[in-house]
Amino acid sequence: MSKRQIITIDGPSAAGKGSLARQLALFLNFSILDSGALYRSYAFFYNKDLCQDEIKNEIKDLIFIPEEDDTKILHKNIDITGSIRNEKIAKVASELSALSETRKSLIDIQRNFMLNKNLIADGRDMGTVVFPEADLKIFLDASPEIRAKRRYLELQNRDQEVNMRDLIEDIEARDLLDKTRALSPLVPADDSIIVDSSSMSLDEVLSFTKKLIKKEFNI
Ligand code: DC
Repeated sequence: MSKRQIITIDGPSAAGKGSLARQLALFLNFSILDSGALYRSYAFFYNKDLCQDEIKNEIKDLIFIPEEDDTKILHKNIDITGSIRNEKIAKVASELSALSETRKSLIDIQRNFMLNKNLIADGRDMGTVVFPEADLKIFLDASPEIRAKRRYLELQNRDQEVNMRDLIEDIEARDLLDKTRALSPLVPADDSIIVDSSSMSLDEVLSFTKKLIKKEFNI
């Protein structure tokens, strides 16, 4: 079996990782691992009072389908995207993701995503912990205000009620949790390329990243 190619995109909430990962997966015909969606799904099943082994089994059945304007998350062929992409689930996911039992139960599931196809993985610790061997590591950042604005538009598009001030507060609180937790904190890998997208459009980030990929993969 030839070596799988892996690109990781890490960064804080709402930095645009998901949109970038989706566009790159479509461009390169790579699989996609939205690890934030795994943690959100973990929170979703936890809220249904499943025990840890049961949660793990349910999560093994998740499939990510990158489409032009969204990545669909299917669980046993049921679209659960709307059920996990809300601020209530994000908060529970952030709290559970600080626990070692949660992180341990997801590590193999995440690594299995690279068994069949080349992979783009996005999250917080893709380049540092889950795929330290990745061929290209990007750390995508933006200011909290810009990220809150992007999340506001995303949630509005999903017809969810949102308040800008609450969003900035939620994002800053989650940043703090993600960056200061003892296990797999949100930090750029030493060999990552840091991209601050505060004043860049998605198209600009995409074309910058495509240049990096062409250089790295000789395409
Ligand atoms: O990227 P997101 O907002 O969908 O992630 C939801 C939560 O999951 C986030 O607060 C932190 C956690 N997470 C994590 O701890 N490690 C990852 N690799 C991805 C997400």
